Amino acid sequence: MQMIGKAGKAAAIAAIAALALTACGRAETGTTGGSSGGEAFPKNSSIGVALPQKTSENWVLAEKLFNDGLNGSGFKADVQFANGGVSEQQNQISAMVTKGAKVIIVGAIDGAQLGTQLKQAKDSGATIIAYDRLLLNTENVDYYVAYDNFKVGELQGQALLDGMKAKKPSGPYNIELFAGSPDDANAKVFFDGAMSVLKPKIDDGTLKVVSGQTSFEQAVTQGWKAENAQRRADTLLTGSYGTASLDGVLSPNDTLARAVLTSVKAAGKPLPIITGQDSEVESVKSIMAGEQYSTINKDTRKLVEHAITMVKDIQAGKTPEINDDKSYNNKVKTVPAYLLDPVIVTKENVKTAYVDDPVLGPITK
Ligand code: BGC
Repeated sequence: MQMIGKAGKAAAIAAIAALALTACGRAETGTTGGSSGGEAFPKNSSIGVALPQKTSENWVLAEKLFNDGLNGSGFKADVQFANGGVSEQQNQISAMVTKGAKVIIVGAIDGAQLGTQLKQAKDSGATIIAYDRLLLNTENVDYYVAYDNFKVGELQGQALLDGMKAKKPSGPYNIELFAGSPDDANAKVFFDGAMSVLKPKIDDGTLKVVSGQTSFEQAVTQGWKAENAQRRADTLLTGSYGTASLDGVLSPNDTLARAVLTSVKAAGKPLPIITGQDSEVESVKSIMAGEQYSTINKDTRKLVEHAITMVKDIQAGKTPEINDDKSYNNKVKTVPAYLLDPVIVTKENVKTAYVDDPVLGPITK
């Protein structure tokens, strides 16, 4: 009778009275206090975490945070990177199922290529959480936890406009657009978010995409690889910027922003206003030095913490909290999501943005 132990005297009396009135005390206590209906699985169970390639620092951080956080909470963490690509990630998820993982958290390389393994996982009774990147074309995904990807794009688009305006009060501005890897479901959402801000300005002539490459397909960077962005930037600069100035670049993340800046420097051109994402150490330093214009703070600690909170809830037999039930349709279902708020960081707020960050705090003091 846990409830009586915790409740005040009046509640205890009420509970005893209620018990006296019912023939089945156990059934009554099970419905009180919003507490769990019982453990869904033992606490020392295996929890699989399938991470993609180390294409940005956030993934590397996530590995340690998942290991520490899950093991520290009494679970058995099974955290894997798939640096070899999609088939390696497929095999890792299958192996997690074989090892009896009760929850499998997936940061997909290609969110549309895991259908068979996710079905296996679901059939084995595991709960599937899509982490940071949505899992596509499958009913076998239970929850999604991520920073609001569309908002990331909006913040990037707005930062690009603000940065260019601060440098040169009126347009037209010459810009180029870069997007992430097309197999990552986030890449299109980031791009769409940014274009929701930029497209009206392209249409009214304030922004000029000199190369003419305005579609997502033209802007993508396969595998989120720096060398691919750098190569495309080289080509754009040679092909479209003979004498023209490049005022701004939409870059979806920090790794690619630094690659584009390398290309612009090699071409001997003045540096454009350029956006980023992830708060990578080198980019935060670059912002402080006045080179990269902006990044996005998506604190990995908070994201991992939320994923682990979901695991704890599921283990305890509770339904995890979600705060969005409409934004992320994966073409088969709308996935219940918990979305966190991304924050834009420029030179203006770089000193306050990371005060409690153990790595970035000391650098930005
Ligand atoms: C993440 C970004 C990251 C990119 C490349 C995306 O799915 O949301 O934060 O920059 O992957 O690793």
